Amino acid sequence: MKEIVHEMYSEQQVEDRVSEIAAQISKDYEGKKIHMICILRGSVFFFSELAKKITLPVTIDFMSVSSYGNGTESTGSLEVRKDLDDDIDGKDVLVVEDIIDTGNTLWMIQKILQARNTASLRICTLLDKPDRRETKVHIDYTGFVVPDEFIVGYGLDYAQKYRNLPYIGRLEFVED
Ligand code: IMP
Ligand code: MG
Repeated sequence: MKEIVHEMYSEQQVEDRVSEIAAQISKDYEGKKIHMICILRGSVFFFSELAKKITLPVTIDFMSVSSYGNGTESTGSLEVRKDLDDDIDGKDVLVVEDIIDTGNTLWMIQKILQARNTASLRICTLLDKPDRRETKVHIDYTGFVVPDEFIVGYGLDYAQKYRNLPYIGRLEFVED
């Protein structure tokens, strides 16, 4: 099988959208500090760019949960691989995800974090793929809504490849 990446959103389009979301977040949280949580690994570039564009004081932490193996389908098993380093009680927490697909991963993350008595808990995702949703989840900030395709680039991978593409694309599989 050969893999072809078709560009969906250019580097400039992504940057512009990240700026818009950062401006909205800066407005919504005015007067507050934001504790940003990066869900590794897919959201790492989005997280960094977003954090730099937010005009309020920000602290950061990282969490890793497993939901997908090396393919394009969910394994159905979810586990926390790396938990947060810092306590989040009393903090205004903003979870930053790469893509919400079935919603199962986000649902689990929300359940874990909600039990830790945050002052507030909001969700920001670069991409939303609503067609495959299995679990209803509330998303506060969305970069782009995408169709039911396999998406790569700007942090998103297929079998750990393509994460460093500066744009967002869809992956096509073709016979050799
Ligand atoms: P969910 O639990 O099905 O919502 O899966 C969310 C996670 O699956 C994301 O954080 C990604 O790591 C991965 N994922 C889902 N769809 C895609 C995709 O189209 N490209 C790359 N990763 C994806
Ligand atoms: Mg992910």
